[in-house]
Amino acid sequence: MTGETFADRLRMAMEQQGKKQIDIIHDAALRGVKIGKSHISQYVSGKNVPRAEILHCLAQVLYVEEEWLRSGRQEKSRQGSGEPQEEKKESTGGRVMREFRKSNKLNNVLYDVRGPVVDEAARMEEAGTQILKLNIGNPAPFGFRTPDEVIYDMRRQLTECEGYSPANGLFSARKAIMQYAQLRQIPNVTMEDIYTGNGVSELINICMSALLDDGDEILIPSPDYPLWTACATLAGGTAVHYICDEQSDWYPDMADIRRKINDRTKAIVIINPNNPTGALYPREVLQQIVDIAREHQLIIFSDEIYDRLVMDGEEHVSIASLAPDLFCVTYSGLSKSHMIAGFRIGWMIMSGNKKMAKDYMEGIKMLSNMRLCSNVPAQSIVQTALGGHQSVRSYVVPGGRIREQRDYIYKALTDIPGISAVKPKAAFYIFPKIDVKKFGIVNDEQFALDLLRDKKILLIHGGGFNWKQPDHFRVVFLPRIEVLKESVEKMADFFSYYHQ
Ligand SMILES: Cc1ncc(COP(=O)(O)O)c(C=O)c1O
Repeated sequence: MTGETFADRLRMAMEQQGKKQIDIIHDAALRGVKIGKSHISQYVSGKNVPRAEILHCLAQVLYVEEEWLRSGRQEKSRQGSGEPQEEKKESTGGRVMREFRKSNKLNNVLYDVRGPVVDEAARMEEAGTQILKLNIGNPAPFGFRTPDEVIYDMRRQLTECEGYSPANGLFSARKAIMQYAQLRQIPNVTMEDIYTGNGVSELINICMSALLDDGDEILIPSPDYPLWTACATLAGGTAVHYICDEQSDWYPDMADIRRKINDRTKAIVIINPNNPTGALYPREVLQQIVDIAREHQLIIFSDEIYDRLVMDGEEHVSIASLAPDLFCVTYSGLSKSHMIAGFRIGWMIMSGNKKMAKDYMEGIKMLSNMRLCSNVPAQSIVQTALGGHQSVRSYVVPGGRIREQRDYIYKALTDIPGISAVKPKAAFYIFPKIDVKKFGIVNDEQFALDLLRDKKILLIHGGGFNWKQPDHFRVVFLPRIEVLKESVEKMADFFSYYHQ
């Protein structure tokens, strides 16, 4: 790739990356560099050339060599040559060095739960700044301990867990999961229809890879837990987002779902209880989703990892129990309800009309076999964890930690002028709305970054959950009330002066 002038090269690199001027401004801001709108437009039109540090930043955000961008010398841009991904580049010693870039498959994959704002927080921590973390649903660091009995049982069984287990999981684990499926009235489940995974995460990945061909569509909620969109995209499918409506307690908007179904739609994903909104779908809402899925013969994927973290005396209903004639896959695990995210154990239950998914189930089996099995010591405690006393209950009843923290955060956040929220009924997340007019917010990632830099509070902006407007953010309310209080006070102060 050549380019006569700096502006030619800049435009070329922007085109190669599919970036507009506003994207450059935004990406530079994430690196702590301010580039004005008029400046970038002058660079692009050739009226001006940037200073050295701006040039350095432009080269970084466009993934091109700085020297090439500056002078057109040096070989070529990393992405810009139109040549294969593995490129040759001069190293200082004069030897030609090969450079490896991530695959194009990752181009549209977004996973901001561990994204640029989190990177910036890590950089600040590295520099000695203490950060209040309200960004990740990881119970252990907030004092939620694994029940003693679970640890005891794992230790006892450890020496028996040295080998691989069957690919779909240990018999004892699957038996306990099958009984759990029976209690939830999930129909037509045999031992062969259950798979354990290294967390639900791995199973989501397997299910998307086994199902989706290029051009296939899958309905995923917006906001979502972004792994679903990321895995569907990585598999080559198209994630089509249906709206969950804040005005209706964040329930899925049925009319929107209907509008978005076409011949290419294979499945619908629901997350119930929901991350990031904390919504819990009542039976009538689930029934309407089943009706739509039935009409269009869609697979239902139901992510129910928070199914035991339900408050206010509400009951969680598994959608699969309402759809014996459809093919359903229900996901859950021990990361949240048993607060043992680090052991990596989740499962999925295939149920209902398995005839319609015979071949698909073969595909799932193949991918499961290819990863040999999930973590065996973690499988060994599924039976213990699912049976007997469920310590999670004590967290969600009145006086319980999750419940009290939920009540606190809901009131404290909605007391801030310009912030409103639907009270979560389940899980440990709240997804408040920002009055964007009041604060002039146009870019929610920038808001998260500004809050991080000003107040040392880390949270994820709504865009990280495939929410298209810049008007939401997610707070994880796992920290103790004292910590939540400190965080909200700082946020209230931030919102008293913030304007974008
Ligand atoms: C809705 C949802 N599904 C799945 C996962 C992944 O869970 P696991 O730890 O089992 O991989 C999470 C984690 O936060 C989640 O929120």
